Amino acid sequence: MQEEQIPGELTRIIHQRRSIRQFTKRMISEEEERALIQAAMAAPSATNSRPLRIISVQSHGAREDLKTLLEQGKEAISALLAPKKDRKALQRQRILWHFTLPMLEAPLLWAVYGEAKTTEPMDPQIEEITQMESRQQYNIMLSLGASLQNASLKAVEMGLGSCIYTAPIRFLHAAKAEKIPVAFMAFGEPDHIPSPPAQNTIESIYQRK
Ligand SMILES: Cc1cc2nc3c(=O)[nH]c(=O)nc-3n(C[C@H](O)[C@H](O)[C@H](O)COP(=O)(O)O)c2cc1C
Repeated sequence: MQEEQIPGELTRIIHQRRSIRQFTKRMISEEEERALIQAAMAAPSATNSRPLRIISVQSHGAREDLKTLLEQGKEAISALLAPKKDRKALQRQRILWHFTLPMLEAPLLWAVYGEAKTTEPMDPQIEEITQMESRQQYNIMLSLGASLQNASLKAVEMGLGSCIYTAPIRFLHAAKAEKIPVAFMAFGEPDHIPSPPAQNTIESIYQRK
């Protein structure tokens, strides 16, 4: 199968997007943030459930509180890991921490939540065999993913960069934080653009039946 792309502005933006973790000091204006929110809101969602909820973690105090919670989570995991002397687990913990910290320095940081739509209860047996509960979770995740991708592409169009973060979530769980987001998303003007990561070939991920 051909790997060349049909040229177009959206194609350029899709392929130009990289996860950006280092930003310049330039702040994001309210208008810019609004444009990002609108792009995220324009995404499709399961049964038009619109689960996207965003808390913009902007004030110094809110960032400090988040940092404290993350550090508490890191300490809690380290305390459990230390006596086990599992070098691989310790190394993994260090990597996840490394992939958590940069978001705290981002000019704009969203905590992203998924709100479940309240639905009429159905027959419990049908709910069970159709795996209703886990499907609802998947639908929320897919819908949020679509929103975050929209926002990340909009960011590229605006000359900005972004990165989705889920590594911090484990530290929030370990800290027994009260309201835990599905993900964080950081935005700003790119200070460093990483080179493209490894990709699969079409043949390795696609089958026609
Ligand atoms: C669901 C999801 C979670 C991610 N979590 C993190 C994270 O916690 N920390 C981080 O630095 N990058 C995170 N990333 C970014 C990935 O590392 C990145 O997308 C991947 O390496 C491919 O690079 P690219 O986005 O530049 O194409 C996440 C991406 C996704 C889609």
